[in-house]
Amino acid sequence: MRNVTSETITQAFLDYCSDDTDPRLKFVLEKFANHLHDFVRETNLTHEEWRKGLELLFAAGEMSTPERNEFILFSDVLGLSSLVDMVNSSEDGTPSSVLGPFHILGAPDAKVGANLKGDNEGTTVVVEGRVTTTDGTPIEGAELEIWQTADNGLYSNQDEAQPEYNLRAHMTTGADGRYLFSTVRPAPYTVPDDGPVGELLNATGRHPWRPSHLHFIVTAPGHRTLVTEVFPSDDPYLDEDPVFGVREQLVMQYQKREDPSELPDDLEAKSDIDLPFYVVDFDFVLSDGSAA
Ligand code: BEZ
Ligand code: FE
Repeated sequence: MRNVTSETITQAFLDYCSDDTDPRLKFVLEKFANHLHDFVRETNLTHEEWRKGLELLFAAGEMSTPERNEFILFSDVLGLSSLVDMVNSSEDGTPSSVLGPFHILGAPDAKVGANLKGDNEGTTVVVEGRVTTTDGTPIEGAELEIWQTADNGLYSNQDEAQPEYNLRAHMTTGADGRYLFSTVRPAPYTVPDDGPVGELLNATGRHPWRPSHLHFIVTAPGHRTLVTEVFPSDDPYLDEDPVFGVREQLVMQYQKREDPSELPDDLEAKSDIDLPFYVVDFDFVLSDGSAA
């Protein structure tokens, strides 16, 4: 097409795709081009604004390393990552939430009842619950990957003072579908804000603080893998998470306890637990399906 206009350019782009283009790719590109071109038409985007956008993307590329992906962070703070989660989340199971950049493979196996707190400073939280199917049947042999920050708001792979797998574990549920561990209360922390994402947050008056949370990946054969996070009800940032990860069903209660006799019988190192401690009871519901 020669006489391309601001109205015909979208169709012209689509016509350039060959007939043997993969149908799903064609469909996604069609939607993408439509929305992207409408965005320019609706905003009357100026050259300066277009250049600024490209500068931000260039800066994201320059900042990114295998450990720090600024493009994912852009996707997170724009709500894109959470939106992709939401449209792919099962309706009958525990909602999913962002994976984040701090998960690492190879966390050590920990028995039900394990003490993850070890020598970490901070308030003890005893976390327990069950992994079940959507009809409430406990799932034996469900696997949980658990990771969280220390009391200073840093993950072990951000903080040289922490052992490599500090506050990380891989746990398998028993016949009752139950998991249990003691740990330290995680702290709120900031998403990395020293790059172009920080510039965007700043320019729009947004802060970088995520509410404190515990991360979980829960898997079981015949069930959809659940990647999620669980947040305490008293966190000050619950309603302003910069990456939009909070869902009502992912909010848990920290319940204060003063009496050690209220610790579960099968908890390791009970005598090391300082008073008061907090308990959390949170069940994970896995919907049917394949792992992916
Ligand atoms: C996290 O929860 O670990 C996280 C998620 C998105 C951006 C940064 C951190
Ligand atoms: Fe996190």
